[in-house]
Amino acid sequence: MCGIVGYTGSQSAIAPLIEGLRRLEYRGYDSAGIALGTPGKLFVQKRAGKLSNLESELIQTLPSATSGIGHTRWATHGGPTDRNAHPHLDNEGKLAVIHNGIIENYTELRAMLEARGHKFESETDTESVAHLLSDLRKTSHGDLAAAMREAVKSLRGSFTLVAIHADQPEVVVGVRRNSPLVVGLGVGENFMASDVAAFIDYTKRAVELGQNEVVTLTPTSVEITDLDGNAITPREYSITWDSSAAQKGGFSHFMLKEIFEQPKAVADTLIGRLSGSGDIVLDELTLSDNEIRELKKIVVLACGTAYHAGMIAKYAIEKWAKIPVEVELASEFRYRDPLIDSSTLVIAISQSGETMDTLMALRHAKANGARVLAVCNTNSSTIPREADAVLYTHAGPEIAVASTKAFLTQVIAVYLIGLHLARIRGVMDRSEVKAIFDELGELPAKIEQILETVEPLRALTRNYTNSTSVLFLGRNVGFPVALEGALKLKELAYMHAEGFAGGELKHGPIALIESGTPVIAILPAGHEHGLDEKMLSNIQEVKARGAHVIVIAQEGDEVPGAEHVIRIPKSLPLLQPILATVPLQVFAYEMAVARGNDVDQPRNLAKSVTVE
Ligand code: AGP
Repeated sequence: MCGIVGYTGSQSAIAPLIEGLRRLEYRGYDSAGIALGTPGKLFVQKRAGKLSNLESELIQTLPSATSGIGHTRWATHGGPTDRNAHPHLDNEGKLAVIHNGIIENYTELRAMLEARGHKFESETDTESVAHLLSDLRKTSHGDLAAAMREAVKSLRGSFTLVAIHADQPEVVVGVRRNSPLVVGLGVGENFMASDVAAFIDYTKRAVELGQNEVVTLTPTSVEITDLDGNAITPREYSITWDSSAAQKGGFSHFMLKEIFEQPKAVADTLIGRLSGSGDIVLDELTLSDNEIRELKKIVVLACGTAYHAGMIAKYAIEKWAKIPVEVELASEFRYRDPLIDSSTLVIAISQSGETMDTLMALRHAKANGARVLAVCNTNSSTIPREADAVLYTHAGPEIAVASTKAFLTQVIAVYLIGLHLARIRGVMDRSEVKAIFDELGELPAKIEQILETVEPLRALTRNYTNSTSVLFLGRNVGFPVALEGALKLKELAYMHAEGFAGGELKHGPIALIESGTPVIAILPAGHEHGLDEKMLSNIQEVKARGAHVIVIAQEGDEVPGAEHVIRIPKSLPLLQPILATVPLQVFAYEMAVARGNDVDQPRNLAKSVTVE
């Protein structure tokens, strides 16, 4: 995924472009570049590496251009080099284009354009668009927007494209298909970007763009059309959060700030969710009570951390609502022939609402007749827009690539869905639902309590900085927590880490244990099915083979044999993931810091992967 920003107005374009790219770096940081528009000439600077590389090399004599485009890249086609950095130019050097997504038919386009005499500089799919636009602009009498409309008709794939031409430098043209692009309306200036964070310091007036819509900006006008040139009325909305929410607030990293924001994020997601009569309030779920009663199954679609939230949903919804729940990796579901129909409720979980794997799986589900409820943290993003309904989590903007507060609020959201379905299907009465909801209401304070005692865990973590592998064990609803803890460590500390169901240890993975191997075990809450006893046996088994065991256990639970016990407050067994995950987030964070890694922007990753 990449970050895109465009500006046209009355002030120098450099500041809004660079500041906008800084706010979008979480979307990709393999290279960065800008193109400034002046009459008859574009000025282009682009560099591999993070935005700071570009800033340090920006020629001080850059013109005081009042329009331009900027890009921060997560490499797909072509490595992260200066040449492959965006913007890409036509052969005259008068048209520049930037791109987020993938042009699937770029090789055919490139062959056709090379046959026409175009010379390519890079290995990217994007450069094909620069040459194509250049040709189409000539046959469109210099109309860049008309050229963009025609170009899109011959492109396959998912993309956001933004272009500028030296002959009309004050005009910036953009288009989106399955990839985000939003317009910011200023006074005597206008913006476009992948995310409102890029221009929120300049304006809180935004305009949403729909699929295959082409937008043309000048300092004083915004025109939107479909691909046939038919005018579309701009759909304006106000941005509700301010830029301080997108700042670190005194924390050393966004991730640490977001870990500490979790009590509020969970509390905000619960606000207003229980009616006076003791029913769960889920007005967003646009299924009638009868449709809910007729549901035959639920399929959860998600990726990465969101998938782990989906796994927890299975335990909760099956226990409370007695509906079968299948949890699917979105990237796999997309290529299966799923047994779903109108009696299936699909829940698509996504923090960003732009994850291409999840979006394409959602479409696959809808094409097979299912109703889709999105669980999302980003207003007006693509997945909620294409779902039949959306339950927004209220974690606030999550800037760190590693998801923390969004994950906890996703789990809260699926708990609410499970309770609501249980009520409507008559499986649980109001008092049972209220009792669980009250327990949910106690979680913010319990998370706070954990956060107040993390210092010993942060110190303990540093003992394992040089470990080559860490194993995580969980049982029942703690198994997804083990997977999440492993994912956090992988993506932040660049360490091998693996989560296992405790019962699986003896079926192979125990062979991995050797002297000094760190093992983190989540001790199940309560004594249901004797799961706690079984995990204690697992702990003994790995200790007997030399493992160093750190156990996440409820207050008061005995844990014989563990080197270290990290205590969490008591909770209902099904709610334990909300609490047990927090120490694992801190463990991964601290390991990343100890290993000198870039915590908020880990290597090779992006905050939302908008390519399949
Ligand atoms: C989580 O820490 C990762 N950044 C990643 O697994 C993420 O959860 C996944 O890419 C899904 O993103 P989404 O929730 O925005 O769809």
